[in-house]
Amino acid sequence: MKVLTVVGARPQFVKAAAVSRVLRQDHEEVLVHTGQHYDEGMSDVFFEELSIPYPDTNLGVGSDTHGRQTGAMLSGLEAEIEAEEPDAVLVYGDTNSTLAAAIVTSKMDPPLAHVEAGMRSGSEIPEETNRILTDHAADLLFVPSTDAAANLAREGITEGVHNSGDVGYDALLWARDRADTSVLSDLGVGSGEFVLATVHRDTNADDPEKLEKIVDALVEDPRPVVLPAHPRTVARLEEFGLYGRAERGLILTEPVGYRQFVALLDAAAVVATDSGGVQKEAFFLDTPCVTLREETEWVETVESGWNRLVGADGGAIRSALSDVTMPNEKPTPYGDGTAAERIVEVLSDVTRL
Ligand code: UD1
Ligand code: UDP
Repeated sequence: MKVLTVVGARPQFVKAAAVSRVLRQDHEEVLVHTGQHYDEGMSDVFFEELSIPYPDTNLGVGSDTHGRQTGAMLSGLEAEIEAEEPDAVLVYGDTNSTLAAAIVTSKMDPPLAHVEAGMRSGSEIPEETNRILTDHAADLLFVPSTDAAANLAREGITEGVHNSGDVGYDALLWARDRADTSVLSDLGVGSGEFVLATVHRDTNADDPEKLEKIVDALVEDPRPVVLPAHPRTVARLEEFGLYGRAERGLILTEPVGYRQFVALLDAAAVVATDSGGVQKEAFFLDTPCVTLREETEWVETVESGWNRLVGADGGAIRSALSDVTMPNEKPTPYGDGTAAERIVEVLSDVTRL
């Protein structure tokens, strides 16, 4: 079987690595990078440290508005699929790279397989549009949980749905065994004694009032707060005149590699984040999570009491960070960390038919 995988953004490199390791044991993979993320710390570092080969092709689309960025990916992806004639096209998550590959593939021969299908947050963010459109174009839908399958059923999608468990769990287990703890001493923080934070959603980073409230709440925490800042956030902190405040009050760093990030997340007393992937990784690592959003697609983490939604409300952030008591029990809604095996098995069965 020959699978053409499309990636483009940081979380997709992490997830694709977990599947690639299994896929490449017995099958051929062509890895196409759209170029949505391109900084060394947002892209190359993942290929260097995750034991996956560099992409066969990088379309180099770079940053732009949603429409122009997605449009720029379409012709390049179509040409790749025409040239490679894969048995299936594999996409991950909810970025513009995911949607572009879904649009192109839905009008071509190979089946489209979507990993992290069925995720819904119920909000009108660009990622929700990407999720819904990709799921409705997909032939194979790999859901991480029964809730995700139920979301698809509500939209009339029941064919081709497979509960593989969450491929992010596979990725996390791999990295936890290889966590690069040198980052703790590099940043001067001790295990259990600091707060980790990530902020990159446009709804937070591009809104001066919300970003200020988040920065102020983090700066006021008595513990050291490590913020590996996404380039979007760095640009907005500068634009809104908040960079100095963040630099003085926080340990503001460049984005770190995945093995360093997992070490930080495992050692943190609590994480404050608006990332989808980080909420779930915190859940897997038993690290209390305070989510800087009003809603989440990873509903099980909240329902089980391990994750608190606080939005960009300064008071709510402060109080959630200061009280991080978590329940004694934790459910296992996202499978057992062997999602990649299931995905490859189903792909192989389906493409053989
Ligand atoms: C994208 C995804 C989001 C995902 C995130 C992961 C969409 C709609 N959004 O958001 O779902 O959570 O990736 O990180 O696809 N930039 C750089 N260097 C880079 C990449 C980005 O400087 O390597 C800057 C550019 O100014 C760019 C901005 O960050 O305009 C936003 O990048 P973009 O890829 O458009 O969206 P993300 O916020 O990264
Ligand atoms: N991550 C990382 N370094 C960082 C911040 C995040 O390796 O400095 C990893 C994190 O562990 C997770 C993924 O990047 O696997 C999440 O990406 P992001 O928050 O950008 O996107 P989202 O999950 O919200 O789509």
